[in-house]
Amino acid sequence: MEKKNLDWGNIGFSYMPTDMRYVADYKDGAWGEGRLTSDSTVVLNECAGILQYCQECFEGLKAYTTEDGSIVTFRPDLNAERMMDSASRLEMPVFPRERFLKALDQVVKANAAWVPPYGSGATLYIRPYMFASGPVIGVKPSDEYQFRMFVTPVGPYFKGGAKPITLCVSDFDRAAPHGTGHVKAGLNYAMSLHAHETAHASGFDENMFLDPATRTYVEETGGANFIFITKDGEVVTPKSDSILPSITRRSLMYVAEHYLGLKVTQRPVKLEELQEFAECGLCGTAAVISPVGKVFDHGKEICFSSGMEEMGPVTKKLYDTLTGIQMGRIEAPEGWIRKIL
Ligand code: PLP
Ligand code: COI
Repeated sequence: MEKKNLDWGNIGFSYMPTDMRYVADYKDGAWGEGRLTSDSTVVLNECAGILQYCQECFEGLKAYTTEDGSIVTFRPDLNAERMMDSASRLEMPVFPRERFLKALDQVVKANAAWVPPYGSGATLYIRPYMFASGPVIGVKPSDEYQFRMFVTPVGPYFKGGAKPITLCVSDFDRAAPHGTGHVKAGLNYAMSLHAHETAHASGFDENMFLDPATRTYVEETGGANFIFITKDGEVVTPKSDSILPSITRRSLMYVAEHYLGLKVTQRPVKLEELQEFAECGLCGTAAVISPVGKVFDHGKEICFSSGMEEMGPVTKKLYDTLTGIQMGRIEAPEGWIRKIL
C-alpha cells in the first residue's frame, strides 16, 4: 500500500481530513449497523441535544507503524471501556466494547495510507466520539445519538517535542467536586478554554489545575495527567476523583514498576510540595510524556532540577520504554497491543 505524500516529520497536532470514517446511529432504543463513509460532514437538527445541552463524550488513541511494518493500536480496550463510563455518566447509551474495537479496526484499515511510517515521529490519532443527535428542548437526555470515529495524522502535541514546557497554576477550575472531571466529556474541555487562552496570553504553555474543592492539591492540565519523580527516583502521580484516569499514566505506572523497577505511588499531591520533586511530566495520548521545566504560581517560580533544556533522566527512561512498547521495539505486556494490519 502506498503512503500519502506528506512531510511526516513536520506535521503538527491539527486536523487533516482522511479518506474514511465510521458512523453508527442510535434510534428507537438500539444501535443500528455501523458503516464507513467518505463524508466528513455531520448534518444535525437545530435542536439536537449536543447543540443545546452539550451531551457528548469522546476518546483519543493512536495507531502506530511498528519497527517490523505492522500497524497497531495501544490498549484500545481501555478507551472503549472509558467511553462506556463517560456515556453512562452523561445518560447516553453505551457503545459496546466489541463494536468499538471492530469499528477501530475498520477505520484504521481503511486509512492505512495515512498511518505515518515507522521512525517519522508522527502517528495516526484516532478520535471516537458520540453525541446527542435527537431534538431536545426541555432539559433531558436525547432519544437519538450518533457514534463516529475519524483519524488524522499528527505530530507532537507541544511544539518543540521533548523540550520542557512552562505551566501556570490556574485561577480557574476545569472540574467541579462530584462533577464530570473523571469522564471524557466535551463539556470539560469547553470549561477549560478560557483558562487555556488566559495562560497562553500570559506566555505559558499550559495550566496546572488544582483540586476544585480546596485548591491546595495538584490535579491535571487541560489534556494530560501529571507524573512527578522524587529526588530518590520514586514515581508519584496525583490521586483525585476529578481527574481523567489517563491510560498513558496507568501504563507508565506499570512500566515504571515492572520494567524499570521503580517505586510508584498514587496519592494526593500538595501544591506546596512541588519544589521537592526532581522531575515533572505531562502524560497522555496526545502529549505522550512532555517534560515540565517550571511551574509559575502567582509570582513564585517552582523550577524542577531537571531544568529547561531536556527531559529529566527518569522521565526519559519512561518515555523510551513506553514508546518502545508502542512501536514494537520492546516486548509489550500481554494484551496491550492490538495488531490491525
Ligand atoms: N487528562 C485529560 C484531561 C485528557 O484530556 C487526557 C487525554 O486523553 C488525558 C488526561 C490523558 O489520557 P490518556 O492517557 O488516556 O490519553
Ligand atoms: C488525548 O490525549 O487524546 C486528548 O484527548 C488530549 C487532548 C487532545 C484533548
